[in-house]
Amino acid sequence: MQTTFLGKILHTPIVLASGVLGNNKAILERVWENGCGLPTMKSIGPAPREGHKNPTVIDLGNGMINAVGLPSPGYLNMEEEWQELSGRTFPINASIYGGSVDEFVRVAEFVSAKGPDFIELNISCPNSDKHGMIFGVNAQSSHDVVAAVKKVIHVPLIAKLTPAAPDIASIAKACEDAGADAICAINTAGPGMVIDIESRSPVLAFKKGGLSGPMIKPIAVRCVYDIFKAVSIPIIGLGGISTGKDAIEIIMAGATLVGIGTAVRYRGISVFDKVTNEISDWLAAHDTTMEKIRGAAHREVR
Ligand SMILES: Cc1cc2nc3c(=O)[nH]c(=O)nc-3n(C[C@H](O)[C@H](O)[C@H](O)COP(=O)(O)O)c2cc1C
Repeated sequence: MQTTFLGKILHTPIVLASGVLGNNKAILERVWENGCGLPTMKSIGPAPREGHKNPTVIDLGNGMINAVGLPSPGYLNMEEEWQELSGRTFPINASIYGGSVDEFVRVAEFVSAKGPDFIELNISCPNSDKHGMIFGVNAQSSHDVVAAVKKVIHVPLIAKLTPAAPDIASIAKACEDAGADAICAINTAGPGMVIDIESRSPVLAFKKGGLSGPMIKPIAVRCVYDIFKAVSIPIIGLGGISTGKDAIEIIMAGATLVGIGTAVRYRGISVFDKVTNEISDWLAAHDTTMEKIRGAAHREVR
């Protein structure tokens, strides 16, 4: 099910969400061979960072809560990974983060020179310039970081947004105005908390964490719906997508590509092929195409 996205031909419209399977070439290649059209790397940061203490991930049955804390070797310590990836035969989306506009720019410029096909800005992490605030909840800071990064990279820029924004559509519009080529929505929802009632304490070592998987799908669908109204650039829709029908739903909200993260845990690495086939089957049964159903939920039903 070939799809063109920002001028690149992808063999399926399914994206691997950032952070779920790491940055190793072998694993990114394996997901691509299993029907993922665009593997996204784990977010790369400005400095080595260990992440939070265990436990960092808890399976809640209808999704997960995680506080891995953006562990990263730091962009300067990934030579082996870049070397391996330089000989790849598949596209990659390199996700990056920073604690300030300057850090984002430094990481983006370096990563861009390594030749990824796209760069995704994870603007859902704390911004030290603004006392721990998140870039992606404020239209002006989102605009500033996208505009600054856009000047130093040579590949299309994707802005990844957080559902914590009170008005995610205005953030998406600010990113588009600043030069973003696409929007990716959503990052994890929350934060949430799980308390063990016997020990009377939060289960995650970091106490609070982001929610992912089926339980957040309605939030993701609403966010993509709102963003589609506000921008004309393509949207990667993700958050709780596990089946072809989930994918169809988020495409009807306005997504061009569909991301999968937590569902890899529930359906295995073949989830990409499975969801692609389920989309094809649904489209065939309804005698329609992806293009025809994209944004269909915005049209009035007669
Ligand atoms: C364990 C874990 C690690 C994640 N790490 C990152 C990350 O490094 N960068 C990022 O932008 N999103 C990260 N995410 C968010 C996912 O990319 C995705 O946006 C979110 O989980 C919603 O999609 P899903 O419900 O299909 O998992 C992570 C999610 C999980 C569960």
